[in-house]
Amino acid sequence: AAAKITIDPAFTVGPVRRRTFGAFVEHLGRCVYTGIFEPEHPKADEDGFRADVLELTRELGVSTVRYPGGNFVSGYRWEDGVGPVEQRPARLDLAWHSTDPNLVGVDEFAKWSVKAGVEPMMAVNLGTRGTQEALDLLEYCNIDGGTAFSDQRKSNGSENGYGIKMWCLGNEMDGPWQIGHKNALEYGRLAADTARGMRMIDPDLELVVCGSSSPGMDTFGEWERVVLTETYELVDLISAHQYFEDFGDLQEHLAAGYKMESFIADIVSHIDHVKSVKKSAKQVNISFDEWNVWHGSRAESKAPGGKDWPVAPVLLEDRYTVADAVVVGDLLITLLRNTDRVHSASLAQLVNVIAPIMTEPGGRAWKQTTFHPFALTSRHAAGTVLQLAVESPLVSGGKTADFAALSAVATFDAEAGEAVVFAANRSATDALTLDAAVAGLGNVRVIEAVTYANKDPYWQATADDSTSVLPADNVTVKADGGRLTAELPAVSWSMIRLA
Ligand code: AHR
Repeated sequence: AAAKITIDPAFTVGPVRRRTFGAFVEHLGRCVYTGIFEPEHPKADEDGFRADVLELTRELGVSTVRYPGGNFVSGYRWEDGVGPVEQRPARLDLAWHSTDPNLVGVDEFAKWSVKAGVEPMMAVNLGTRGTQEALDLLEYCNIDGGTAFSDQRKSNGSENGYGIKMWCLGNEMDGPWQIGHKNALEYGRLAADTARGMRMIDPDLELVVCGSSSPGMDTFGEWERVVLTETYELVDLISAHQYFEDFGDLQEHLAAGYKMESFIADIVSHIDHVKSVKKSAKQVNISFDEWNVWHGSRAESKAPGGKDWPVAPVLLEDRYTVADAVVVGDLLITLLRNTDRVHSASLAQLVNVIAPIMTEPGGRAWKQTTFHPFALTSRHAAGTVLQLAVESPLVSGGKTADFAALSAVATFDAEAGEAVVFAANRSATDALTLDAAVAGLGNVRVIEAVTYANKDPYWQATADDSTSVLPADNVTVKADGGRLTAELPAVSWSMIRLA
């Protein structure tokens, strides 16, 4: 089948935002303990952080990292995680039925962020706690000194405030599983009070109010309307969370990007409805701060129970296939394509827990399949996101109505004179012949073309073999006389760089 696109730098969507390439570190399973932090590991640095994980985090090209949760944050006392380590209490983590030894807290995370070269994005607990504790944490983190909490931070070893800009006002407060779950009005009022206070400390914070945990929530839409009615002038972003599972139907799985696209469109209409009713000049946008493939029905996703409250249990340690990587690549394409309204995003999560980076306690760190499209997109998407004209055959994915087999986006870096096309072929069965009109870019040639696909789309990387299926040169890609042509195999993700 043939698909056509036209790429012209005259048609733009908005800037490529570094914050699109965020990730997430939650106190959950082995994400923190034996993930980013493992003092006994041979590669641990002087602060107990795994240097191999730091290196992979930098290679992944992560921009922001959201912390410390997730569901965890809704029962978290941030004070437990600061001060002399030997005096910190071990606490029950109700969200994941675990014990948290509190060896890592905000100071360690801030230090790790500097080493990883990422911007921290902090979440406050609006489940079991409220406005005052959020203000205390903000004071602890961002005030340089001269107050009780800022001086406490200094005496804990951090002379200067961390200057954390992005703050999440709780997590998934629409979810009945959330400790302190509230209805939209209760939550909207609490979020507004908290945001008002936080802005009194620093008017330039970027605040994220909780949107829906998934488009499938019964309250989706109405939740956004009520919460934004309470908070519109006080927040900058509303969160969106969405995970995708295979359920043994590959074609349906490949519809993930299409479903994310329609979720974004719906959220935009809910935001803009409130904006219009309020006659506001302000534009609230989206923080897509949890997204990924998550095979939630698998055994390792089940939290421990009963009297068992382990430290850092194996939880949500999904193993990803090449098909999952194609989905992740397409979800990133979708986020970029919506850069006008999606101003921040976080792949959930970074290490071990539904993650592109895996570790063995005391042993190796290795890359899952999903690492590759993320790292390549983060490294090469630059400048401006272009609006493409796309003509594609449709595929039908079981439950999902006809959707385009080709999902594509292009970025254009005028300074470097480089355009990059990112494309997913979402057909489970048919290759696509791509025919792109690129005359608008001038006389360009192909400087790199790679495709990620495999005869067996269910191939998974392991600690022993994480390299035998990698993105490989696509030798079919040609650019000549204002035309770019390429063969895109079924279930594939590609990146084509032109200059
Ligand atoms: O990322 C895993 C969990 O998914 C998070 O803790 C929660 O916010 C979401 O339900």
